[in-house]
Amino acid sequence: MRLLIMGRPGAGKGTQAVNIREYYNIPHISTGDMFRAAIKNQTKLGVLAKSYMDQGLLVPDEVTIGIVNERLQEEDCKNGFLLDGFPRNLDQAKALDKFLKEHNIALDAVLDINVAPEILIDRMVGRRVCKTCGATFHVKFNKPKVEGVCDNCGSPLIQRNDDTYETAHNRLKVYDDNTAPLLAYYSEQNLLKTVNGDQDFAKVFADIKEVLSK
Ligand code: AP5
Ligand code: MG
Ligand code: ZN
Repeated sequence: MRLLIMGRPGAGKGTQAVNIREYYNIPHISTGDMFRAAIKNQTKLGVLAKSYMDQGLLVPDEVTIGIVNERLQEEDCKNGFLLDGFPRNLDQAKALDKFLKEHNIALDAVLDINVAPEILIDRMVGRRVCKTCGATFHVKFNKPKVEGVCDNCGSPLIQRNDDTYETAHNRLKVYDDNTAPLLAYYSEQNLLKTVNGDQDFAKVFADIKEVLSK
């Protein structure tokens, strides 16, 4: 299964990607996670990415497209993948199409987790992520058993640098200007499957399985 998962910042892409990865046994490839790993390791890519991410802006296409093309050629992507956070504009979508065509493969579906922007600021500002394993929690909607501690590995939970009110607003605006047009792009290709992301976590995943089975 070759899938894209789309949706506004905070819509629940990363949260549902964990379920999808396990259920369909495909690797979860998140460009945001790749950039955050590069920042943590203080690589050249990390330094560059940070200067954009901290403002909620897109990292330049030439960098982003390159790392995705490389990642998709790794062995674990042979039988499928779930791309999260890429493509994020029309040029990235066209670059992905070119890659798929060159490798004689095609997408099976593009999932859109639809959530109204009004509730997303709270989701982003209240998000907490594990420093070590990357698991995602929320101070109100998905509390860890012990405050500030990861249920999976016991490491401290931290707040993402871009989960401030100001940057969250910028990210929503960047989404509207750059990423929203991709919904029409994939709808025209009959790939788009929309799921209501403003529901209980388990219900969102049940809906995802249902739309993907059709
Ligand atoms: P990225 O990491 O992709 O962030 P994003 O798109 O802003 O999305 P998020 O990760 O914030 O949200 P999500 O949908 O994964 O939500 P989550 O499941 O965590 O990108 C970050 C930055 O990297 C970009 O701004 C850009 O700078 C750069 N970048 C990345 N890709 C790029 C690209 N292709 N090109 C250029 N630049 C790029 O959930 C959010 C919170 O809500 C959590 O706390 C969760 O517990 C909670 N929650 C989830 N589901 C529910 C629910 N059903 N009910 C209640 N709460 C819920
Ligand atoms: Mg995410
Ligand atoms: Zn952890």
